[in-house]
Amino acid sequence: MSELLETARVTLFGSRNAGKNSFEPACDIPSLACKVVLITGAAGDLGRQTAVELARHGRPARIYVADLPRDADAKRGVIERIQHEARSDDGSNDGKYEATDVRFLDLDLTVFESVQKCAAEFLAQEERLDIVVLNAGIISNRVGTTKEGYEKHFGLNYLGHALLLRLLLPLILSTVQQQVDGDARVVVVSSEGHAVAPAGGIQFAKLKTDCADMSYAQRYGQSKLALIGLARELAQRYPSLTTASVHPGRILTGMATALSKESLLVRLTAPLAPLVCVSVVIGIKNHLWAATSPDVVSGKYYEPVGVPDKESNDAKNPDLSRRLWEWTDQELQLAGLL
Ligand SMILES: NC(=O)c1ccc[n+]([C@@H]2O[C@H](COP(=O)([O-])OP(=O)(O)OC[C@H]3O[C@@H](n4cnc5c(N)ncnc54)[C@H](OP(=O)(O)O)[C@@H]3O)[C@@H](O)[C@H]2O)c1
Repeated sequence: MSELLETARVTLFGSRNAGKNSFEPACDIPSLACKVVLITGAAGDLGRQTAVELARHGRPARIYVADLPRDADAKRGVIERIQHEARSDDGSNDGKYEATDVRFLDLDLTVFESVQKCAAEFLAQEERLDIVVLNAGIISNRVGTTKEGYEKHFGLNYLGHALLLRLLLPLILSTVQQQVDGDARVVVVSSEGHAVAPAGGIQFAKLKTDCADMSYAQRYGQSKLALIGLARELAQRYPSLTTASVHPGRILTGMATALSKESLLVRLTAPLAPLVCVSVVIGIKNHLWAATSPDVVSGKYYEPVGVPDKESNDAKNPDLSRRLWEWTDQELQLAGLL
């Protein structure tokens, strides 16, 4: 029955996640033994399932869930859920499954000090970092700014992540050198929504405002465009790394729930959403592919799984990503963070 529905959905609306649909986590995720992974927003739907699949099939030594602070019980709940789900479908059931050590790091991407503390806490615990998935994100139709005054999508989705990455970069680079296969990854979770960024791309003069003159889709799009630029520029500047930006598809997750609380239009169109959305398990294939596949070309944007070059012209513009990198350096230096 579900296959029938999927066929009807694809016939009517096209396949949202075609591409390398043949990517199967159980077969295609290689051993990640001894590796260390950090995923932001991994208490949320896509990040958590990414952690589950990596733990289930790759069994890295440790996975760090970096997400908004919560009480000790809630943190334990997140960790236990990932470990339980990774174990329950493991299939071996031979009692030999060694659960990946999952740890929670407090991270509020809207506050520079919190990002610094998160990086410091991680660096105090680890001597390697093999895979980073910059996954946390929001979409909201309410205007607002981060603690340091940046438009809230841009400040959280892009700038907080850019700071976290800069602080972790020396360890990621040294991890490449430590390894025989020389593989360290940065996966940047963008969105097809990047194409809705304001005309001309990133509005540098407005980034330290609430950008109230833009639609919320443009504010979200601007931040997601910046993330594609981050992945590309990172690849250019650090060729020893493998980086990729990805669109996961359209998936009903916590983001949609949060937006529906704010938007009548989203609530009214909610009954149609299942027709144009894919499941979380399908949605994270691009995260997993970018984090593990030998076929990733560093710096590229992939939408859907493993299909490059579908980004907007602004996202392809090397001058824009170079300017963004320089702007970011300047902002972080002015704030005394680099
Ligand atoms: N779902 C889609 O259709 C879709 C499409 C394209 C791209 N994406 C991208 O996929 C990524 C994952 O989203 P999702 O769909 O899994 O949504 P989600 O379930 O809402 O997950 C987002 C995660 O980000 C966390 N987060 C929110 N504010 C934060 C902050 N200030 N600091 C640190 N973490 C914060 C959330 O924490 P709380 O739960 O505690 O708020 C949550 O764990 C996002 O970057 C999103 O833009 C999603």
